[in-house]
Amino acid sequence: MSEKRERASTSRRAFIQGAVTGTLAAGSLLTLPVPSIAQERRTIKSALIGCGGRGVGALGNHVEAAKYAGLDVKVVGLCDAYGDRASRPARQYGVEENRIFLGFDGYKKLLETDVEVILMATPPAFRPMHFEAAIKAGKHVFFEKPVGVDPPGCRNVMEAGRLAKEKGLCVVAGTQRRHSRGYRETKRALDEGAIGKIRGGSIYWCGGALWRRERDAGWSDADYMIRNWVSFAELSGDHIVEQHVHNIDIMQWYMGGPPTSALGFGLRARRKTGDQYDFFSIDFEYPEGVHIHSMCRQVNGTDGGVYEHLVGEKGIARGLKPKDGQVFPQGCPEYPHDREKDYVQEHIDLLHGITKGAYVNEAEQVATSTAIAVMGRISAYTGKRIEWKHMMDPDPKVHKPEVYGLTMRPTAADFETGEVKAPPDDVVPLPGQPG
Ligand SMILES: NC(=O)c1ccc[n+]([C@@H]2O[C@H](COP(=O)([O-])OP(=O)(O)OC[C@H]3O[C@@H](n4cnc5c(N)ncnc54)[C@H](O)[C@@H]3O)[C@@H](O)[C@H]2O)c1
Repeated sequence: MSEKRERASTSRRAFIQGAVTGTLAAGSLLTLPVPSIAQERRTIKSALIGCGGRGVGALGNHVEAAKYAGLDVKVVGLCDAYGDRASRPARQYGVEENRIFLGFDGYKKLLETDVEVILMATPPAFRPMHFEAAIKAGKHVFFEKPVGVDPPGCRNVMEAGRLAKEKGLCVVAGTQRRHSRGYRETKRALDEGAIGKIRGGSIYWCGGALWRRERDAGWSDADYMIRNWVSFAELSGDHIVEQHVHNIDIMQWYMGGPPTSALGFGLRARRKTGDQYDFFSIDFEYPEGVHIHSMCRQVNGTDGGVYEHLVGEKGIARGLKPKDGQVFPQGCPEYPHDREKDYVQEHIDLLHGITKGAYVNEAEQVATSTAIAVMGRISAYTGKRIEWKHMMDPDPKVHKPEVYGLTMRPTAADFETGEVKAPPDDVVPLPGQPG
């Protein structure tokens, strides 16, 4: 047996035998009693809101993680705005018809059922509303990143995350790098001072354009926006939030918190539809004159790359440091790792948290990373330096209302009430003034 497989097998045995209760490496994890679910080898009742590509993928990862962890998962409910999206997972998991909830208010009916764990993979704009409702209904949550598109939404997620903690409900976010052995090993090395104090760095996600669907004559504005949500900043947060949040999450994790300000730029050069930019370049400033450059681009035919580089007093660290030592906590089963399988590991960690009392709650950390990305976007859209405290501090003497209260419209609630007017295609914010 290889060393890697043996480690995984030992971890699995430890977990199945319930020998050790562990906590995960991230700072947000606490050991608390979880009242609702405490037995060995039991069936977890799970459901999905948002049955698209990632949602169905996440459900598969969840089911796989449960098997690996010695549990069973029954998919007891599905929710999607559209019936055509829910039909595939419904067939795959044999979900009864009266457990499939359609429409923009379908999540409310799903949350009234006896489901225990809710997976969320709608477009990001819906996350704060769905998350708050799920926590109030007493459900454990896995939610895909990002978890909002504007400052009020990110703060709502932080608040609902605090309520989750009071209720002992576990929350795991789909930022997956924090569940990756390589990234965790790098974090440990940084905390041990391997490269000294971090003095600067760069993070980037550059690649091609994502998908787009032609407008069908029968579609409403809401249909057009939802079926093209990666083109509309009101639903996606723009790609600095939707995609680059992964790297921003690493920056926040490794730096120990959010930057104090963002100053950046961006624009569109190629897109014709929707209202997203094609590229962003943001300078995130931390105390003591530390700057981290963030850039992201979605333009076909350009060079790509997805990286995090940090420059310390004594060396350089890259986010991913694969094939190094094992830093998983004792008692937490480890999936035989490769990058693909980090998608499974995050569900193992969630189920471990729920069933073994190793409480996990990633709401605050993922909402913070989402808000940092939003801060960068606002700076690029306006051309202004945006300070964290102006966007996030609840004190009206400190925050600036135009940033603190900035709300993307149409909102999630507008989709529920049917009051959706799509923004015009190819009209984007232009920073500064013509000069
Ligand atoms: N972690 C990752 O690597 C990763 C990868 C891809 C996508 N994602 C994230 O997953 C989420 C979903 O992305 P996707 O690629 O699956 O998109 P998708 O368009 O394939 O799926 C979204 C689904 O949500 C449904 N939906 C929209 N609004 C809804 C509502 N209010 N209620 C119920 N259903 C609703 C849509 O009909 C659709 O079926 C996004 O937040 C995205 O950023 C994460």
